[in-house]
Amino acid sequence: MARDQPVIRRLMPDDAGEYRTLRLRALREHPDAFTSSFEEEQLRPLAWAQARLRPDVERPHDFFLGAFIGDELVGMVGLQGRYRPKERHNAAVVGMYVAPDAAGRGVGGALMRELLAQARALPDLEQLDLTVTQG
Ligand SMILES: CC(C)(COP(=O)(O)OP(=O)(O)OC[C@H]1O[C@@H](n2cnc3c(N)ncnc32)[C@H](O)[C@@H]1OP(=O)(O)O)[C@@H](O)C(=O)NCCC(=O)NCCS
Repeated sequence: MARDQPVIRRLMPDDAGEYRTLRLRALREHPDAFTSSFEEEQLRPLAWAQARLRPDVERPHDFFLGAFIGDELVGMVGLQGRYRPKERHNAAVVGMYVAPDAAGRGVGGALMRELLAQARALPDLEQLDLTVTQG
């Protein structure tokens, strides 16, 4: 595999430090692109990020994927499910970000393709929502 090809894998609690750093960078650099704000999220402890990345059998539609070049986390995207009975077929794509130094080389596309592949394998899931910012 070429050195700069990203490896896409699910983020786990051990990745929380890198995840939190990249996420805060995304929120700081692109305040208009995300619903969460840098100001609110920088106050959250590492334990919050660890909990967010911990697999939960009650919430199988919730996970984040990371794109790694070498050992470095350079991009991420998440899925966030809805779990009321009438909404369970639906989940939202959240937190898509690729660091500027890795952008424009297909990392975002690779993340989204893997997210879609994993979403298709979840039996209850039928529909994904994706929100974008005008402009
Ligand atoms: C948007 C983003 C995730 C793209 O990641 P990337 O690794 O550069 O994307 P890729 O190189 O895989 O490009 C995939 C496609 O998206 C297009 N694209 C990339 N950035 C784009 C942008 N800002 N606007 C419109 N199209 C864009 C590319 O041209 C490419 O199109 P193609 O397949 O027709 O050639 C990244 O630039 C980013 O994190 N931006 C800031 C945060 C953000 O906007 N996140 C989304 C929140 S909803």
